[in-house]
Amino acid sequence: MTFNNNIHIMKPIIYLVAALSILIILPVQTFARAPKRHNYISVEMCKLCHKKKELGDQYDVWANTAHSKAFYTLGTPEAEKIAAKLGIKNPQQSRECLRCHSTRYESDGGDNGEDIHVEDGVQCESCHGPGEDYMYLEVMEDMKEATDMGLVMPTEETCRKCHNPESPTYNPKRDPTPDGKTVDFYYPLRKKKIEHHMPIKEIRK
Ligand code: HEC
Ligand code: HEC
Ligand code: HEC
Ligand code: HEC
Repeated sequence: MTFNNNIHIMKPIIYLVAALSILIILPVQTFARAPKRHNYISVEMCKLCHKKKELGDQYDVWANTAHSKAFYTLGTPEAEKIAAKLGIKNPQQSRECLRCHSTRYESDGGDNGEDIHVEDGVQCESCHGPGEDYMYLEVMEDMKEATDMGLVMPTEETCRKCHNPESPTYNPKRDPTPDGKTVDFYYPLRKKKIEHHMPIKEIRK
C-alpha cells in the first residue's frame, strides 16, 4: 500500500473527527458566551470595606434600617397571624415569606446559597446585585466595570421586587405624598429613609 492509498482510507476518518469536534466545540463556545451567573457572597463581605467611618459606613446605616431586621419581623405574633391565615405554620421557615424578607431566596423559587443567612434579612445584594464578581477593589473603583460585573445602582424598579401587591400586608395607601395624596410606596420618601452616602470620590482614595 502506498502513502497515497493510506490518505484515501484516512479521509473519511478525518472528516468524522472534524465533524465530531465541531459538535463538541460549538455547544461549549455557546455556553461560554452566555451571560455568566454571578453568585451571592453575603453582607459580611461588603462589611469588610463598607464599615469605614471615613467612607460613609453604609454597613451601619443599613444595620439601622428595617431591612436588616426583616427576618425577625417574621417571628412576631403579627406575622404568625398573617401566616396562619395563609396556612403557613412558621413564617421564618417559609419561602413564601422569606423570598421578600431575606436575600437568601428569590421570587421565582431560586436559592442564593447557604452563605446567605436568612437572619441578615434584606441585605446589600438584594438591591445591589450578587457581589461575587464586583467585590474586588479594582473593580469597585470603576463604576462601569463594576456594573459589567453585576453591580446594580438601584432604582424604584429594584424596590418593586418586594414592595408590591404580592405582599400580604400590602397597603395601597401606605405613604403620604407632598401633594396630599396617599400611595402604596412613595419612592423619594423611602429612598431618603434608607439613604447611605459615600463621600466624594477624591476623599474615597
Ligand atoms: C475590597 C473592598 C470592597 C468590597 C469587599 C466591597 N466594596 Fe463596594 N466599594 C469599595 C470602594 C473602595 C468603593 C468606592 C469606589 C470609588 O468609586 O472610588 C465602592 C463602591 C461601591 C458602590 C458605589 C458604586 C461605585 O462604583 O462607586 C456600591 C453600590 C458598592 N460599593 C456596593 C458594594 C456591595 C453591595 C458589596 C458587597 C457585595 C461591596 N460593595 C463590596 C470597596 C469594596
Ligand atoms: C428583597 C425585598 C426588598 C427590596 C428589594 C426592597 N425592600 Fe424595602 N422592605 C422590605 C421588607 C420585607 C421590609 C419590612 C422590613 C420589616 O419591617 O421587618 C421593607 C421595609 C422598608 C422600609 C421601612 C419602612 C418603615 O416604615 O420603616 C423602607 C424605607 C424601605 N423598605 C425602602 C426600600 C427602598 C427605597 C427600596 C429600593 C431601593 C427597597 N426598600 C427595596 C423588602 C424589600
Ligand atoms: C412580595 C414580597 C413580600 C412577601 C411575599 C411577604 N412580605 Fe411581608 N413585607 C413586605 C414588605 C415590602 C414589607 C414592608 C412594607 C412597607 O413598608 O411598604 C413587609 C412587611 C411585613 C410585616 C410588617 C408589617 C408591615 O406591613 O409593615 C409583617 C408582619 C410581614 N411583612 C409579614 C409577612 C409574612 C408572614 C409573610 C409570608 C406569609 C410575608 N410578609 C411575605 C414584602 C413581602
Ligand atoms: C433596600 C435597597 C438597598 C440596600 C439593602 C442597600 N442599598 Fe446601597 N444603595 C441603594 C440606593 C437606592 C442607592 C442610591 C442609588 C442612586 O443614588 O442612584 C444606594 C447607594 C449605595 C452606594 C453609593 C453611595 C454614594 O453616595 O455614591 C454605596 C457605596 C452602597 N449603596 C453600598 C451599600 C452596602 C455596602 C449595602 C449593605 C450594607 C447597601 N448599600 C444596601 C439601595 C440599597
